Amino acid sequence: MIDQRLSSVKGNLSFLNKTFMKWYDFFSNFYDQSLEKLYADSRRRAVELLELKEGDVVLDLACGTGANFSHLKKSCANIEIYGADFSEGMLRRATHNIEKNQWEGIHLFQADARNLTKDTLSEYTGKEIKFDQVLCVLGLSVMPDWTTIMTNMLDLLKEGGKIVVVDVFAEKRDFNTWLVEKIAKADLDRPISEELKSKVNNFHMEYLPVKESKVGGKLFVAAGTK
Ligand SMILES: C[S@@+](CC[C@H](N)C(=O)[O-])C[C@H]1O[C@@H](n2cnc3c(N)ncnc32)[C@H](O)[C@@H]1O
Repeated sequence: MIDQRLSSVKGNLSFLNKTFMKWYDFFSNFYDQSLEKLYADSRRRAVELLELKEGDVVLDLACGTGANFSHLKKSCANIEIYGADFSEGMLRRATHNIEKNQWEGIHLFQADARNLTKDTLSEYTGKEIKFDQVLCVLGLSVMPDWTTIMTNMLDLLKEGGKIVVVDVFAEKRDFNTWLVEKIAKADLDRPISEELKSKVNNFHMEYLPVKESKVGGKLFVAAGTK
């Protein structure tokens, strides 16, 4: 089920990168139990905005443990899902979740999102794919070089395809912001929705009803078409 082309991961990991990914390997052991209740409704809303249709091919970037998969499958059973993440631990947990639920049509691969472009995608997946939708939940506040990664996401999308992002922005910083940033190794100052607005058509953004104190800032979903 898992297509981990470890050998094709580009570039050398710096020491900092290794430490960062080791944290996510460790985090994978308790990620779902700690966070699922908090984010489930937001995942549902993000998937609604994807407007999935039978036969669509979707990229879930920084898919983590695969917490979006059940929502994607519920919304439209007959789709192909590609889940990419850099952390082996997260992908192991995602594989476990796929097997436990006997989901079909979900393909996982390990990739540093900074290197994932239309030119490298086939090295990871063994296929030439243009995605109908690209989803990234709580990834752009965590991954380095997030503006490049957003450009890559759009590059991987079909003309007219849909991009949906869920993330947190701290308008005012407080202790909870600091704490969430420490735990998730995130940066909640990034103007993610503004950046997306400048890159897509039919931009839409809404805040999600989750207390700021719980997630360190305002949780939002932003969407657009290429
Ligand atoms: C906060 S988690 C979000 C996981 C999942 N999308 C969710 O909603 O639960 C951030 C994810 O980003 C992944 N990640 C961090 N840096 C990455 C990179 N450079 N390329 C791909 N994934 C990365 C981590 O391994 C982790 O799974």
